[in-house]
Formats: sequence, structure tokens, C-alpha cells
Amino acid sequence: MEIPFNPARLIESALLEAAADCGLPGDDFAPQVRPADPRFGDYQANGVLPFAKKAKRNPREIATQLIGAMQARQILDPNLVEWEIAGPGFINFTLLPAFSHAWLQAFSCRADLQAGAGTRLKGHRHVVDYSSPNTAKEMHVGHIRSTVIGECLARLLAFSGAEVIRDNHIGDWGTQFGMLIWAIKETGYDLYARESARTVADLEALYKQGNAAYRESEEKAAAIRAELVKLQQGDGENLRIWKSITDVSWKAFDEIYQRLGIRFDEVLGESFYRDKVGRVWEELRDCGLAVEDDGALVVFHPEHKRFATQPFIIRKKDGASNYATTDLATVLHRKEHLGADGMTYVVDSRQSDHFEQLFLTVDKWFAATGRDRPEMNHVAFGTILGEDGKPIKTKEGGSVKLRDLLDEAVRRAEVIVREKSPHLDEEETARVARAVGLGAIRYADLSQNRTSDYLFAWDRMLTFEGNTAPYLLYAVARIHSIFRKAEVEPERDFAEADPPQTDEEKALARKLLAFPSTLEMVLGDLRPHVLCTYLFELAGVFSSFYNANRVLGAPPEVRDRRLLLCARTLLILRTGLELLGLETVKRM
Ligand code: ARG
Repeated sequence: MEIPFNPARLIESALLEAAADCGLPGDDFAPQVRPADPRFGDYQANGVLPFAKKAKRNPREIATQLIGAMQARQILDPNLVEWEIAGPGFINFTLLPAFSHAWLQAFSCRADLQAGAGTRLKGHRHVVDYSSPNTAKEMHVGHIRSTVIGECLARLLAFSGAEVIRDNHIGDWGTQFGMLIWAIKETGYDLYARESARTVADLEALYKQGNAAYRESEEKAAAIRAELVKLQQGDGENLRIWKSITDVSWKAFDEIYQRLGIRFDEVLGESFYRDKVGRVWEELRDCGLAVEDDGALVVFHPEHKRFATQPFIIRKKDGASNYATTDLATVLHRKEHLGADGMTYVVDSRQSDHFEQLFLTVDKWFAATGRDRPEMNHVAFGTILGEDGKPIKTKEGGSVKLRDLLDEAVRRAEVIVREKSPHLDEEETARVARAVGLGAIRYADLSQNRTSDYLFAWDRMLTFEGNTAPYLLYAVARIHSIFRKAEVEPERDFAEADPPQTDEEKALARKLLAFPSTLEMVLGDLRPHVLCTYLFELAGVFSSFYNANRVLGAPPEVRDRRLLLCARTLLILRTGLELLGLETVKRM
């Protein structure tokens, strides 16, 4: 028998086969196998109830029939899986140690896991639109969420077999460039005189200066508008200045991305679409979606409560394009030129209306023009709050720069690492501090349900107790140390090892086998915290196992059987943390 990566698939296909044997019409019966409450088993099939209801039959009777069919032909080997009917017609399944053992043998390294998981989204091309800061501004704490969640989802999608295109939709076009160019010319500012991060801070100041001048006198306002028009009309010098602003901004952003191990495949900012909006206006008007409203071009959605009257403005009164036009052109480009089957936008929940209107508009536009509609998701997230429960700010009331935040995380982690692990040399201390500090920031963000706001608290994210990065990184290092003491490589072949026997071994094996369904759940509604919770629980189950079952001093066959479980726990913890974007260490 071939062992599927997700054991639920085995149960599903067995139920479908049994259903065919019982003459249940195949199209109507969906087994609906889901992870179960662990007190009752590993999986529960929920599909009998809705089927029985539709067929006006007794669900328990149908469940009994299905089970009878599975037994009669041994569709599922009773030595591998146990099942029983529960309640009005659910069927609970429990994986037996022989099955767990076969699975642990079949998926013995990262490549095996990837091959197993990677069949799910094979052939699906998916754009993840994330991070997306605006140029001429420093990245601040608000950008951490999109960056970290987006990177995690990109990794998860790629692990599940999708061809992922990471696209950073930077805000590099708009009216602010009139003010910036004016201020740069006015002050004679040299964009390349200082390191890029410093330059970006200067650009923020220059923008403020331009903005103040704009409001100061009509004369200056006219000069600023003239700079913007020149830029839009392709004036050589203004384009050069604009380009330099993008270059130095990108350099500063990229320093942060490099620290976080993030690389984008595309950086098609808003400016890329500035000559691609005409077609959007034309098509939307031709298919009757866009209408003139008080001089602007807008889309209404009559079937929607709010958007029936709240317009989606796609061309401003003055004829200029805006954020909405650009996003419509972006969808078209991703569909036509990148061949995207799906797009995920990782953006603040305050932009929910924008994306809802965008998706509704694309639905109708693509339907009217005979294009396949890509799958589109807005992965919204809440605000980061300071310890006072208000949106996080510096002491002076400014926004916290992302660069400073990352520095501080590593600095704080280093103090802790020096205290906890005085045996490490300087180089290792630095490496561990980086893994713990940056990991803590990422994990604190990812482990929260993304739609809620979360409290940014250094002490809480850097503690070794509870659902934190240090706790999980320590769990990984601890398993490495078990292997060092055993003088065995965790990658060793454990083909001769026995199946799990004690209760703790069995519990650990079952938790390990829940990894595939966890990944499916995370992808189902794009919520990384589900993976965090799983890894945290796995580390807990491992601890209980390790405390109750001697590994190192045990007789050889017992030791081997338990080392196999240690090796697979290490593999899944490391793979899971890597998907979250955390770097792990072997020793701490
Ligand atoms: N630059 C935008 C902002 O800072 C985010 C862009 C998100 N992506 C998009 N395709 N709209 O709000």
C-alpha cells in the first residue's frame, strides 16, 4: 500500500470505494474527512449526515453499511486503522502504530515531506503581493506584518507545490513626487551622498518641506504642480530624480529584506502600470461596468449593500488614475503576462473595502470579457499595539522604524543568550542572538490570529516559556543535543527501528502525523497561527514523551525506536519553523 502524505486521503478514498460498493451515488456522497477531537480519534468523517439528509435515509444505517463494506473487502487494513461509528452517523478513525510507523519511514527527510505536500497545488501559479512599502519613506513597524505573513504564505504555497511569484507592489508613483522633486531641486539635495537608509530619512523630511510649501503660497503650489506634470509627461531630469528616489529607497528596503531572508521575484511598483491604465478604462466602459459620475469614472455594485452607492473610483475628476486603476491594471498584467491562477494580497484590514470592490469588479469584468477569473484573496491583518494598547509609536510619538526594531530585537536577544548559554563562543552567540531576536519578532506576529490586533511586548516574545520563538528554537536545539550525546546523526536510516509502543511514543507519533492536515488547514484560510499552534503543541508532546521515556540510556532496540521519533520531531519542527521564516540553530 502506498502511504499518502496526508492520511486523511487514505480514509477518504476508502470511504468512496465503500460507498461505491454499497451503491451510494458517487456524486452525492463526499466523505468530508477532518481532523478529529483527539479524545475520539485522529479523523472524523462527517459526510454521511448531509448525504443521509438529502437521501431521506437513516445516517447511522448508512454509516453501518459503509463500515460493513470496508470490512468485507478489507478496503482499509484493520491493522493500520481503527474505526467506529459515533453519534448520529459520524465515523471516527484512529491511526494505529503500524500505520504511524510506515508513515514515519516513508517521510524521512525534508525532500520527502516536500514531495508529499507538493502534489496539492501542482501546476498552480500564484502571485503573493506583500510588503509593498511606499518609496521615499522608511519602512516602519506597520510593514512587518505584511512582510512576515506574506513571506510565510509564499513559503507555504511553494511547499504545497504552487509556482509562487513574490511581487512587491511598491508605491512609487503619485502626487507626492511633485513635492519631493520640487524640494530636492530647491535644496540642491544630493541623493547619493549618504548611506541609503539615511537618505530615505532625508527624503521624508524633504517631502514634509515640499508639503508645507504647497500650502504656504499659491506660487509655490503652482511650481510644485508644474514639477509633477513634467514628471508625468516624461521630462528627462524629473524622471531621473524620480528614478533615484526609487533606487535609494529600494536599497534601504532591500537591506531589511536581506536580514529577513526575503527575495522578491518581481518588484513591479505602481509606476509600472502608469501606461497600462487606458485599456482598463476602455474595457470597463465598454462592458458597461464603469460609468461617469460627477466627472469621475466609477464602478458601482448594485447588488452590494454599501457598494451600490459607495463608488469604486477608477479615474479621478482631473483625468488621473489612482490606486484602484493601478490595481485593476495589475490584475490584468498578472493574468496575461505572469499567467497567474491565483493572487494573494497581504494588506492591512483597513483596505478591506478597496479589495472587496476590486475583486467584485474583476469578477464582472473578466466574466464580461470571457477571461477566467483568478482566485483572489485579501489576507487582511490587524494593527500592532504598543504596551499601552494604542498603535505602537516611539517615545517622541513617531512611527517605529523597522530597522531599529530589528536591531533592538537582536540586541535584547543577545543579552538573554549570553546569560542562558555562556558556553557559546562569540560567533555562535551572534548567530543564536540573530535567530532568537528576528525569530521572536516574526513568531510573535505569526502566532496571533492575523485578523486581530496584537500587543507588541518584548518580554513576552523573548521568553523561553509558552508559545514563543525562543521556546521552539530551544526545543530544536535540545533534540540536536540528544543526537550529539547519542553520537548518532538525526538523518540516519532508522529502517530497522520498531513501531511506537508506549503511550507517550504513540501520542508523539500521532501528533507528527497531524502535520499534513495542519498544512492544509493553514492554506485553507491562510492563517499561519494554526501552524504555530501545532508546532507549539508538538514541542509539548515531545517534552512529555522525553520526560517519561528514557532515550539515551535505554536498551538498543528501545533507544532506536525512540531516536526515530526524536529524528522525525526534529524534522517536522525544523520544516515548520522554516515555513514560518525562522532560522533554527543546532546549539543554544
Ligand atoms: N503601498 C500600499 C500601501 O502602503 C500597499 C500596496 C498593496 N498592494 C496592492 N496591490 N494594492 O498601502
